[in-house]
Amino acid sequence: MVDSSHIEFAAEAMTEYDRRSELEGFDSTKAGVKGLVDAQSTKIPRIFVHNELKLEDNSSHGNCQSNVPVIDFAGVNENPDSRSEITNRVREACETWGFFQIVNHEVPVTVMDEMIDAVRRFHEQDIEVKKQFYSRDVTKKFYYNSNFDLYQTSAANWRDTISCILAPDQPDPEELPAVCREILLEYSKHVTKLGQTLFELLSEALGLKPGYLKDIGCTEGLFLVGHYYPACPEPELTLGTSNHTDSGFLTLLIQDQVGGLQVLHQNQWIDVPPLHGAVLVNVADLLQLITNDKFKSVNHRVPAKRVGPRISVASFFRTHFGEGSEQRIYGPIKELISEENPQIYREIFTKDYLSLYYKKGLDGTSPLSYFKLLK
Ligand code: OGA
Ligand code: NI
Repeated sequence: MVDSSHIEFAAEAMTEYDRRSELEGFDSTKAGVKGLVDAQSTKIPRIFVHNELKLEDNSSHGNCQSNVPVIDFAGVNENPDSRSEITNRVREACETWGFFQIVNHEVPVTVMDEMIDAVRRFHEQDIEVKKQFYSRDVTKKFYYNSNFDLYQTSAANWRDTISCILAPDQPDPEELPAVCREILLEYSKHVTKLGQTLFELLSEALGLKPGYLKDIGCTEGLFLVGHYYPACPEPELTLGTSNHTDSGFLTLLIQDQVGGLQVLHQNQWIDVPPLHGAVLVNVADLLQLITNDKFKSVNHRVPAKRVGPRISVASFFRTHFGEGSEQRIYGPIKELISEENPQIYREIFTKDYLSLYYKKGLDGTSPLSYFKLLK
């Protein structure tokens, strides 16, 4: 009698083997997804195919009834009445959506546009120059690659990315590519300042003193990524960015006018319409952990599109690998725990959280579930 389970096992091992070598083949081109598009492929390689999309119920997409809140920050640092109104709206958004857009935030729109343009310039420059920056060494100050989790996930994303560590130590300008050197440093100054305001408001929204979150190190690390989503010939088979929650405390995102980001709200994927000049803010995992689930790190994703490229720039307030601060311990803030609100998570080292995030890749599950206290 033929042992069919054995044959199935062999077939599975074979697909696994093929996948690994196809991933390596793609990786070794150092040309990313843009390289595939430039070669005018009309089919996407199978390493990019997301089988789960074939099973998805498309009826729950793009509900226009509700939208991510837009908060006007005019007067936030000058007018106490405006500030308390803004704080209330921030609190509400963090509790219900985990996402909000800010207008009148003092980051010059010209700087935002130039930042997006610089990401485009990097990805569209001469491949030979670009290749020199291709790396998977996450301790580098600046690198470019396609899919940071290429070898961890079951399906790759239709996206290339530049990554840059901007704080706690500013990179030496020489380490940054000429096409985006100046604007990376300029943009990060504005993001740092807006981040400081945001962490004050978040502290106040939690009933803590304004400097609380800064004092425990939430603003120390800044990690920036610039995504380039090329046009995709078979968008229904893949994703630009898989369903995920963000690492770190808080993310500030700017995007061009193509659009595509979706937020999971009340079990529906809601489109976040591009609003020129707005900064999108979202709660990330460590903020959910320290607020003991008061603020929500919400799932989001970017479908692939037939049109492109689309560009976005995400700035994560978060420390990175190889920095002293990754030794810090975080747990739910004592002031937020009570008999009605018992502690949900244990205390963790940021390095344990980050290692887990990188090890599992973007697979739609929250790393936070690993840190829950046993009941
Ligand atoms: C991210 C992210 C969304 C986008 O970088 O974590 O969710 O619109 N990006 O590119
Ligand atoms: Ni994200």
